[in-house]
Amino acid sequence: MGEDLWRSVDDYFTGLLLGPDPVLDAALEANAVAGLPAIDVSPAQGKLLHLLARSVGARRILEVGTLGGYSTIWLARALPADGQMITCEREPRHAEVAAANIARAGLNGVVDIRVGPALDTLPALEGPFDLAFIDADKASNAEYFAHALRMSRPGSLIVVDNVVRGGRIVDADNHDPDVVGTRRFAEVLGREDRVEATAIQTVGAKGHDGFALAVVR
Ligand code: SAH
Ligand code: DHB
Ligand code: MG
Repeated sequence: MGEDLWRSVDDYFTGLLLGPDPVLDAALEANAVAGLPAIDVSPAQGKLLHLLARSVGARRILEVGTLGGYSTIWLARALPADGQMITCEREPRHAEVAAANIARAGLNGVVDIRVGPALDTLPALEGPFDLAFIDADKASNAEYFAHALRMSRPGSLIVVDNVVRGGRIVDADNHDPDVVGTRRFAEVLGREDRVEATAIQTVGAKGHDGFALAVVR
């Protein structure tokens, strides 16, 4: 039971529903070779992001936290040829790996990687974005969410990764900045009357975690 079973079930559906994807496999391989941490979304989660972007008819997507561009590729593939995705990454080395992965995916023309702390990049950006995926340092989630909301339009979807963290979110004795930041974000989300929101726990290849989802009124 537990993690092994979650992984088996993920593998089962991924095998049936996702199909082979040499470009995404190559991206994960390049990330590993470069020593990037394997904290990308899972394949099934990546496809969920892709389907959400398709569902909202996204033409412009914002991402905070690129890593090697795995989630970026899933999301950018949902865009029309004249679409745009801006993704923010603090670490130049991560951005370099991501740029190569994104180029290999043929998505150079739609994805714009902005290198530097997201809180330096975001204030200068202008919306509207149809979808925002927030997946960087969790301590600043409330600020990232505020920027995503500022750059939204009615109907925009804002997705925030890793809001559960193996249940640490409900451990009041946990003072890890990421956990504290996620709790602070959740409280902001609950008070924010410009959105309708929920949070969904997930288990799978990446353990027990979850997404918050908010639709802008
Ligand atoms: N979205 C990726 C995973 C992102 S991991 C995927 O699913 O494939 C989190 C990333 O956020 C890391 O690459 C980390 O360097 C970056 N990050 C951390 N703090 C940041 C900050 N302040 N601004 C921008 N990026 C940041
Ligand atoms: C971590 C970050 C993530 O974005 C994630 O999906 C999993 C783990 C981390 O910092 O440990
Ligand atoms: Mg994440």
